Amino acid sequence: MTDPGYFEQLYADSDDPWQLAERHYEQRKYDLTLAALPRVRYGRAFEPGCSIGVLTRLLAGHCDELVATDPVAKALESAQATVDAPHVAFGRGRVPDDWPDGSFDLIVLSELLYYLSAPERLEVRAAAVRSLAPHGHLVLVHWRHPFEVATCTGDQAHAEMRVGDDLVAVVEHVETDFRLDVLAHA
Ligand SMILES: C[S@@+](CC[C@H](N)C(=O)[O-])C[C@H]1O[C@@H](n2cnc3c(N)ncnc32)[C@H](O)[C@@H]1O
Repeated sequence: MTDPGYFEQLYADSDDPWQLAERHYEQRKYDLTLAALPRVRYGRAFEPGCSIGVLTRLLAGHCDELVATDPVAKALESAQATVDAPHVAFGRGRVPDDWPDGSFDLIVLSELLYYLSAPERLEVRAAAVRSLAPHGHLVLVHWRHPFEVATCTGDQAHAEMRVGDDLVAVVEHVETDFRLDVLAHA
């Protein structure tokens, strides 16, 4: 996995290391992510790796309850300031170890899987399958190209999540730079 100190340092150096709140690329990707949700509204949702809460704020409008986690305290402080909503619960945590209990109608893994080791990605897959409600949706969104600290490409990460016949794709969107898949129980 990517060294946890890497993320601590990124947030120490910048309030928004990926310019998630600024870049048109990110905003458009978020718009497409929301548009890809097969349902208007979900019950309970989980967004690990929520960073400063830009996507969290958008997802919050579609969920009755949202659990959003990140390992970096500074990122979570920003996220909490961005998303001041009683139905959103922020917590410090790293997947796969800190996967919350209970089931989720929506799980969103956005720009996260390539920071995990291959065994961790397998564990995340197992946790997602286990905790996804019968009619729930698992959303995957990742940059497709290799980069320095990534353990795999987004294409590889999505392919791993789609191995097996227990999950099926209900949305597939591929662009030059990112891939967006929505999976459901078969
Ligand atoms: C590129 S940002 C993605 C932010 C957000 N998901 C989005 O798409 O806008 C990656 C975030 O994942 C967090 N992260 C890194 N490793 C993680 C892990 N094992 N579990 C949960 N979050 C992690 C980092 O701290 C960082 O905030």
